[in-house]
Amino acid sequence: MAPALVTPQDAEQSLSYTKSGTGDYKEAFITGPKAFNAEAELKGEGTKQPPATYPNYLPVWDNEKEPYPPLEPFTHYEHGKDADPSFPNLLTNAKVDDLTANIGAEVHGVQLSQLSDAAKDELALFVAQKKVVAFRGQDFAALPIQSALDIGGYFGRHHIHPTSGAPRGFPEVHLVHRGADDTTARDFFSERTNSITWHSDVTYERQPPGTTFLYLLDGPAAGGDTLFVNQAEAYRRLSPEFRRRLHGLKVVHSAAEQAINSTHRGGIVRRAPVTSVHPLLRTHPATGEKALYVNPQFSRRILGFKKEESDYLLNFLYDHLAKGQDFQARVKWAPGTVVVWDNRVTAHSALLDWDDGARRHLARITPQAEEPYETEFDG
Ligand SMILES: [Fe+2]
Repeated sequence: MAPALVTPQDAEQSLSYTKSGTGDYKEAFITGPKAFNAEAELKGEGTKQPPATYPNYLPVWDNEKEPYPPLEPFTHYEHGKDADPSFPNLLTNAKVDDLTANIGAEVHGVQLSQLSDAAKDELALFVAQKKVVAFRGQDFAALPIQSALDIGGYFGRHHIHPTSGAPRGFPEVHLVHRGADDTTARDFFSERTNSITWHSDVTYERQPPGTTFLYLLDGPAAGGDTLFVNQAEAYRRLSPEFRRRLHGLKVVHSAAEQAINSTHRGGIVRRAPVTSVHPLLRTHPATGEKALYVNPQFSRRILGFKKEESDYLLNFLYDHLAKGQDFQARVKWAPGTVVVWDNRVTAHSALLDWDDGARRHLARITPQAEEPYETEFDG
């Protein structure tokens, strides 16, 4: 078992906000090294579960021997601002089908590994507009891992996740892995009624991710879809008076609960957990859209409000996002699918709804973006 690099005491120290905040962190999906069965992953399990299709992407938790220092600020360059909004380089030969009227698209006929820089600029803008795009028929998973990282690295500095397992030698790749015949789902549902965990990724960082890539390596034949919500449309659904009240509010986001959860699962904490204060509304640098920027996994407290006031408003916003199926999309995975979303204007939730022991294995490339900012209230 890999040792924690940061002690539980370090994590507890950054819990002060959480103790007075909503603190609704439920982690259904990071199974940790205690549940990892290398033999079953490499050789398969009985007659029903084949070996992992991409063993080079199986997780290890010992890429690091020493804890990482805190992340340093960097200047993000937003390529979506350079894009031709008619998308001639990205979509000329593409078939684009919208998933819904206001969020999501499915694209056939584009190979993400072959994009020119101009096409990558357009990808950043296209994804910012659509919020989430499923690209089918991709060769991404079969590329050398470094090649996949090189493509994603165009969009920002790679985030190295503080607690997730990663492929050996590639800590920049965040893995979502539930092994063959994993039984931890049953344990989870002994305590909870559903697996919905709305969040945007790692919003506790000072510069959270923007254009984000997640690709399927192995998955169940049915189940394990990912839900997405359009947080810009969610903002527009609110009344002008309500939007005015939200303007200027600031929210604490915390990494502490995730770190403690990892430690409890025998996992790692690569760097001491942080808290960041972000505007409750953020403006997208390429589209100028405003979006709600809160999520129940990492947001904890509205600055300046008393606990009950903060909980009341945050819980209303969480309900608004969760219940808004008329601004959500559900993406079904298939071999060769790469899903790209803009983490600044969406939240998502995985679903733990299959029970046939099938492996679910995905890799995420997570370029960080600008520090969230909010432009002036404009109605
Ligand atoms: Fe996520």
